[in-house]
Amino acid sequence: MRMEWQVGPLGQWDGDGVLFLGFEKEEPLAGFGRWLEAEGDWLRETGALEDFKGSFQQTAVFYAPADKKTSRVICVGLGKRKDFDGDRLRGALAAGLRRCRELRLHKPLLPLAALEGIPMEATSALEEAVVGGWLGLYRYDAPRGRDDERPPQLEQWGIHRETEPEAGMREAVDRALAVASGVFLARTVTTAPANEVTPRFLAEKARETAERHGFRLQAMDEETAAEMGMGAFLAVAQGSREPGCFVVMEHAPAGTEEDAPLVFVGKGITFDTGGISIKPADKMELMKHDMAGAAAVLGAMDALGALDVPKRVVGILPCAENMPGGNAYKPGDVVRSLSGLTIEVISTDAEGRMVLCDGLAYARRYKPAFLVDVATLTGACIVALGDRVGGVMGNREDLVEEVRRIGMEVGDKLWPLPLWDFYFEDLKSDVADFKNVGTRKAGCVIGGMFLKQFVDDETPWVHLDIAGPAWADKDQPTAVRGATGFGVRTLVEIARRWPAGGGG
Ligand code: BES
Ligand code: ZN
Ligand code: ZN
Repeated sequence: MRMEWQVGPLGQWDGDGVLFLGFEKEEPLAGFGRWLEAEGDWLRETGALEDFKGSFQQTAVFYAPADKKTSRVICVGLGKRKDFDGDRLRGALAAGLRRCRELRLHKPLLPLAALEGIPMEATSALEEAVVGGWLGLYRYDAPRGRDDERPPQLEQWGIHRETEPEAGMREAVDRALAVASGVFLARTVTTAPANEVTPRFLAEKARETAERHGFRLQAMDEETAAEMGMGAFLAVAQGSREPGCFVVMEHAPAGTEEDAPLVFVGKGITFDTGGISIKPADKMELMKHDMAGAAAVLGAMDALGALDVPKRVVGILPCAENMPGGNAYKPGDVVRSLSGLTIEVISTDAEGRMVLCDGLAYARRYKPAFLVDVATLTGACIVALGDRVGGVMGNREDLVEEVRRIGMEVGDKLWPLPLWDFYFEDLKSDVADFKNVGTRKAGCVIGGMFLKQFVDDETPWVHLDIAGPAWADKDQPTAVRGATGFGVRTLVEIARRWPAGGGG
């Protein structure tokens, strides 16, 4: 992933295609007209420009007469002006760059002139455009014996500006690259199969990431977890021959070591068979993505490290495979979690909350300034919100709202669900502090209520249920079908903007 800044007069650029954007039923945005006039207006004269309708993600390619410097012009539709938002901008660039890849271009260019007149602050527009372009280009490189017939991946593109870019613009592009590369990492480990992505594999990825950025890293094996008393995490891990691994990574740039950190906890179930409460065979293969929460935390930590965000941030990834092995935990078992609270296992398929509750209890040791967990926790959340929206819950209404807003801005659609005390009644147990599942009602909320038991009231906490949006069944504007990397950008922005409401 590379980007090149080019500075010079309009048209004086080095690339094999240039991108312009336009709203529906309008000519491409202002900078396009300026450039075209300087070029002698060839595109308007032929009438070909009418092929460009500007509908969202429509692309039209125009070939310049031989004497022109710019050989191809790729116009991309933003859709209706009244519907414009960040998603539209990201989606347009995604479509534009994918088109460039199909055309097998080597170095397409986005002139900042193409963003002139976008109803968004200029630096943000640049950042979103670059993020969108890269997200659109993402694809998973599958192991294949046959030749890959797809056009080669587009590894670089350029940005052109008429005058030297300000520092803020360069930073916006660097940020976009770091974030996109964090999303790429999350998508790749989530899409890769569970025979490759085991708990130890995730620990190894965390180690590589930590080494790249100088994080502290701890990867605890089952023995260490047992010594610590992580009975809930181990209950899940013990059913598999793949050893579980409890990973803690810490980004603490100089001067922040003593700060109360942000702590992110991600569900890292590398495969969820359901355990003894086994799942039906249909679509079970998708349960390789049950570590998407851990992947989001890993991807966010990677981006935060690359950007060297001056905050202390801890990522906790409880990783295990949920299998119905001979030593598997069983319905009716009572286990003691790290917090000391005991849990009656009703369903071994509610394993996410089992590993997360020890993750949350472990997080307590850091006295977090803000605690966020991310998990593909419940099918019920998909029933409630569909598969493109995550549920957001927590113990501070203002933070739930803040996180929802951040998510909406960066393209992770989140919607709030309540965690009122009376919901807890469904979790009452006769033989332990509580059960791990309730009735069939409000499954997504009950998942949140369970986790809430492991967070003390003093700690601001937000829970993201990403069971739906972590995986796309069909292509989306900025994600091909497969893992989406949902949550990475939200976590990065939470860290960048913390403390909420200003500062840092
Ligand atoms: N990993 C699943 C949730 C899930 C379902 C994620 C579909 C992504 C897509 C989770 O561990 C699970 O099995 N949850 C149960 C909870 C129930 C037993 C309370 C569920 O959703 O049915
Ligand atoms: Zn499950
Ligand atoms: Zn699961």
